Amino acid sequence: MTHNELHETAKALVAPGKGILAADESDTTIQKRFDTIHLESSEELRRAYREILFTTPGAEEFISGVILFDETIRQSASDGTPFPQVLAAKGILPGIKADIGQHRLALTEREMVTEGLDGLRDRLHEYHRLGARFAKWRATYSITDELPSDYCIWANAHALARYAALCQEAGLVPIVEPEVLQDGTHTIERSYHVTSRVLDAVYTELFDQRVDVFGTLLKPNMVLSGYDAADRAGVEEVADRTLECFYKHVPAGVPGIVFLSGGQSDEDATAHLNAMNASGPHPWELSFSYGRALQGPALRAWDGEWANAPAAQRSYYHRAKLNSAARAGAYTSAMEEVLIDGERDR
Ligand code: 13P
Repeated sequence: MTHNELHETAKALVAPGKGILAADESDTTIQKRFDTIHLESSEELRRAYREILFTTPGAEEFISGVILFDETIRQSASDGTPFPQVLAAKGILPGIKADIGQHRLALTEREMVTEGLDGLRDRLHEYHRLGARFAKWRATYSITDELPSDYCIWANAHALARYAALCQEAGLVPIVEPEVLQDGTHTIERSYHVTSRVLDAVYTELFDQRVDVFGTLLKPNMVLSGYDAADRAGVEEVADRTLECFYKHVPAGVPGIVFLSGGQSDEDATAHLNAMNASGPHPWELSFSYGRALQGPALRAWDGEWANAPAAQRSYYHRAKLNSAARAGAYTSAMEEVLIDGERDR
């Protein structure tokens, strides 16, 4: 293994006790998040909200990197400092969402393929100049009794690997994100089967396309029962099946697995990560790259008002701290209550 900068960056992103904040919602997705607090999204409100998150005092104790959206990497804090510099000054690595979203896969009725490869080499070089040191590309797969098709699995795996190879050429660590969506009534067994097939295809393509897995991170779903399943698996079963799946299908050379939260409750996302780490050590670091499960309480506390910024920052800090504890298997549900007592009111 050649020791190089990509390996160092990948390792820094999964440093002990630290994880990644996904703040790279597209304009459509951030509107969905703002809808939950009845707020019309505007460029200034998106900027203000992200400034609150990025300037949270002490967040760098638990956060190693932040994934930005194309608009956000070009925006600045109120004092004029560009966001990538705001983060870098705290020792947080800026990252960038490199794909341009999911579109219907041709000749299928409802399967999706992720687009954004055209012109990607130039965009990645620009993002590197703007301060990004890692990137992400998300592919999605729906579970039914028949889906995902092999066609969908391999089309997305090919694109993920093309993106990852271009990232490594540009000096960016690729986060490879194949997300098997957990909506529906499927069993945990079905989730396990589909996630396994997806991971096999992804690693086949990554190796075929010469990607150095030591300089990558994997951002997968956890193996869950469908959100609408009648008899859903509990925390220990989720942890066991997810680990079993990754032990069989993810090379030990991958430095870290940084889970997405994917619509789980904040507490579930933290408890599942905690249970997996409690049975460690594992070949890879097991960490988080959560969007909703880190931001939910902060968004509600902010409620679109500058005056609520300190409360929003406390909420975000608190969730980041709990997920940091989960990285060491040291989280307990009793820790959920502490913020209410004003444990941290800097
Ligand atoms: P969630 O944690 O909300 O699933 O978001 C993570 C992410 O980056 C999805 O691409």
